[in-house]
Amino acid sequence: MRPLHFPYTMCSRKLTFFALVLLISLAFPTSSCTEKEKESLLHFLSGLSSDGGLAASWKQNGADCCEWEGVTCGEDGAVTDVSLALKGLEGRITPSLGNLDGLLRLNLSHNSLSGGLPLELVSSDSIIVLDVSFNRLGGDMQELPSSTPSRPLQVLNISSNLFTGRFPSSTTWEVMDNLVVLNASNNSFTGQIPDNFCSSSSLLAVVELCYNQFTGIIPPGLGNCSMLRVLKAGHNNLRGTLPTELFDASLLEYLSLPSNVLDGVLDGAQIVKLSNLVTLDLGGNNFSGKIPDSIGELERLEELHLDYNNISGELPSALSNCTNLVTINFKSNNLSGELSKVNFSTLPRLKTLDVLYNNFNGRVPESLYTCSNLTALRLSGNNLHGQLSPRIGNLKHLTFLSLAINSFTNITNALHILQRCTNLNTLLMGSSFRGELMPEDDFIDGFENLQVLSLNDCSLLGKIPLWISKLAKLEMLILSENQPPDQFQPGSKT
Ligand SMILES: *[C@@H]1O[C@H](CO)[C@@H](O)[C@H](O)[C@H]1NC(C)=O
Ligand SMILES: *[C@@H]1O[C@H](CO)[C@@H](O)[C@H](O)[C@H]1NC(C)=O
Ligand SMILES: *[C@@H]1O[C@H](CO)[C@@H](O)[C@H](O)[C@H]1NC(C)=O
Ligand SMILES: *[C@@H]1O[C@H](CO)[C@@H](O)[C@H](O)[C@H]1NC(C)=O
Ligand SMILES: *[C@@H]1O[C@H](CO)[C@@H](O)[C@H](O)[C@H]1NC(C)=O
Ligand SMILES: *[C@@H]1O[C@H](CO)[C@@H](O)[C@H](O)[C@H]1NC(C)=O
Ligand SMILES: *[C@@H]1O[C@H](CO)[C@@H](O)[C@H](O)[C@H]1NC(C)=O
Ligand SMILES: *[C@@H]1O[C@H](CO)[C@@H](O)[C@H](O)[C@H]1NC(C)=O
Ligand SMILES: *[C@@H]1O[C@H](CO)[C@@H](O)[C@H](O)[C@H]1NC(C)=O
Ligand SMILES: *[C@@H]1O[C@H](CO)[C@@H](O)[C@H](O)[C@H]1NC(C)=O
Ligand SMILES: *[C@@H]1O[C@H](CO)[C@@H](O)[C@H](O)[C@H]1NC(C)=O
Ligand SMILES: *[C@@H]1O[C@H](CO)[C@@H](O)[C@H](O)[C@H]1NC(C)=O
Repeated sequence: MRPLHFPYTMCSRKLTFFALVLLISLAFPTSSCTEKEKESLLHFLSGLSSDGGLAASWKQNGADCCEWEGVTCGEDGAVTDVSLALKGLEGRITPSLGNLDGLLRLNLSHNSLSGGLPLELVSSDSIIVLDVSFNRLGGDMQELPSSTPSRPLQVLNISSNLFTGRFPSSTTWEVMDNLVVLNASNNSFTGQIPDNFCSSSSLLAVVELCYNQFTGIIPPGLGNCSMLRVLKAGHNNLRGTLPTELFDASLLEYLSLPSNVLDGVLDGAQIVKLSNLVTLDLGGNNFSGKIPDSIGELERLEELHLDYNNISGELPSALSNCTNLVTINFKSNNLSGELSKVNFSTLPRLKTLDVLYNNFNGRVPESLYTCSNLTALRLSGNNLHGQLSPRIGNLKHLTFLSLAINSFTNITNALHILQRCTNLNTLLMGSSFRGELMPEDDFIDGFENLQVLSLNDCSLLGKIPLWISKLAKLEMLILSENQPPDQFQPGSKT
C-alpha cells in the first residue's frame, strides 16, 4: 500500500501548491491598486493633522493600497470602499479622494474632521454612499450647476456637523436624481426646505433635516416624493400649515415635525391618506382644533405626539381603533371631556399615556387598567376626581405615576392600592386629595423602589408617617404646603 500511496501524495501536494498560487493571484490580481489611487489616498493622509496611527498602519501593510486598513478593492483591483469611521482623524478632507475613479462608498463618520466638504465628493460620478456624519465640517454646501450630468449618489449623510448657510435649493436636487436617503440633521443650515427634492427624482425615501434653522413653509413639492417614508424636520423655524399636497406622499411612515411654529387644524380628510403612518409627531407647535375622528383609520400608528399645542375638544372614541399605539402624548393642550371616550382595552401595547395640563374631567377609565404594559401614566393638571380603582395594582410595569393637580379623593385608599405597583419609582400626588388625613402607618408597606414622592400642597392633616422613613431608595421627598400637626411631638424624628 505504502509505495503506491507515496507518489499520489506528492502529486496532491504539488496540486495544492499550484491551487494556492492561483488563489493568491486571483485574490490579489496584478492589476491591484494603481499609482494614481495610491497617490490619492496618500494625499488624503497628508491633509490630516492627526491620523490616529493610520499612516503607520498603511506603511506597514506594504505598497498595495488594496491591503490598507479601511480600504477595499473590487475584483478589478479598483478601490471601491474607504471606510475610516471612528479613527480619531483630524484635519481636512482633501478633494483627492474624488480621484478614486471606482470609489462607491466613503465613510468618514465619527471623526473630528474640519473644513469644508469637497464638491468633488458630493458630485463624484462614482460614489453612491457618502457618510461624513459626526464631524466638525463647516461652511456652505455649494450648489451643483445645472450642467452637471445625473449623479449616482444614493445616500448622503452630512448630519451632526457645523454646516451653515443656505441649504442647496435649486439645481442640486435635480442633478441628484438617484438620491434615496438625505440626512442633514443637526447642523446650522438656513433658508427654506427645497421644493424640488422630487421634481426629477422620485426615489427619495428618507429626508432628515432636524435641528437646523430652516424657515418658511413645509414645501408642497414634497407631495411629489411618492417613495417618501421618513420626513423629519423637527427643531427648526418652520411655519404655516401642513400643505394638502404633503398628504399625497402616502407611503409616509414617520412624519415628525416637532418644535416648529406650524399651525392650522389637523384635517381629518387629509390625514387618513397617510394610512402607513407609524409615528406622527407634531408636538411643540401651534396646532388648534380637534383631533379628527379619522385618526382611527391609522391602524399602524404607534407613536402619537401632539403635546404643547392648542388642541381642544373631546378625545375621538375612534382612537380606540389605533390598536398598535404605544405612546400617546397630549400634554399641554386644551383637551376636555372624559378620558373614557377612548376604550383603552383595545390598546394593549400602550406604554405611555401623558395628558398633563388639559381640561379632562370625570374618573380614570377602568379600561386603562387593562393596559398591562403601561410604564408611565401622567394624569396631572386636569379635573379628574374619584377614588383610585384597586385594578391599578394590575399595572406591574408602572414606574411613573402622576396624579397631581386633580381632585382625587381618599389618599389612604390610593396608597393602599399603589403599594402593589412594586416597580413604581416616581409617585406624584401633590395638589390633590385636599384636606384629608395622612393615613396611619400600619396601613402602608411596600413602595420599595420609590425614588421620588411628592405629596405637596394637599392640605393633609396628621403626622409625617413612619413608612416614608423606610423607603430606602428615596431621593426626593416633597411634602411642602400641608397642614402642620396639631401638636408638636417631642422625640419624633420624621
Ligand atoms: C459608517 O460607519 C459607522 C461606524 O461604523 C456606521 O455606524 C455607519 O452605519 C456607517 N455608514 C454607512 C452609510 O454605512
Ligand atoms: C448615515 O446615514 C445612513 C443612511 O441613513 C445610515 O445608514 C448611517 O448609519 C448613518 N451614519 C451614522 C454614523 O449613523
Ligand atoms: C440622521 O442624523 C441624526 C443626527 O446625526 C441621527 O440621529 C439619525 O439617526 C440619522 N438618521 C438616519 C436615518 O441615519
Ligand atoms: C449633534 O452633533 C453633536 C456634535 O457632533 C453631537 O454631540 C450631538 O449628540 C448631536 N445631536 C443630535 C441630536 O444628534
Ligand atoms: C409635482 O408634480 C406635479 C405633477 O407631476 C407637477 O405639476 C409639479 O410641478 C411638481 N411640483 C414640484 C415642486 O416639482
Ligand atoms: C398661534 O395661533 C394663534 C391663532 O390660533 C395666534 O393668535 C398666535 O399668535 C399663534 N402663536 C404663535 C407663537 O405663532
Ligand atoms: C372603528 O372601528 C369600528 C369597528 O371596526 C368601526 O365600526 C368604526 O367605524 C371605526 N371608527 C373609525 C372612526 O374608524
Ligand atoms: C387656541 O385656539 C383657540 C381656537 O380654538 C384660539 O381662540 C386661541 O387664541 C388659541 N390660543 C393660543 C394661545 O394660541
Ligand atoms: C380652552 O377651551 C375652552 C373651551 O373648551 C375655552 O373657553 C378656553 O379659552 C380655551 N383655553 C385656551 C387657553 O385656549
Ligand atoms: C372595550 O374593548 C374591549 C376589548 O375589545 C371590549 O371587550 C369591550 O366591550 C369594550 N368596551 C366598550 C365600552 O366598548
Ligand atoms: C408587553 O411588553 C413585552 C415586553 O416588552 C412584550 O414582549 C409584549 O409583547 C408586550 N405586550 C403587548 C400586548 O404589546
Ligand atoms: C377610603 O379607602 C379606605 C381603604 O380602601 C376605605 O376603607 C374607606 O372606606 C374609603 N373611604 C371612603 C370615604 O370611601
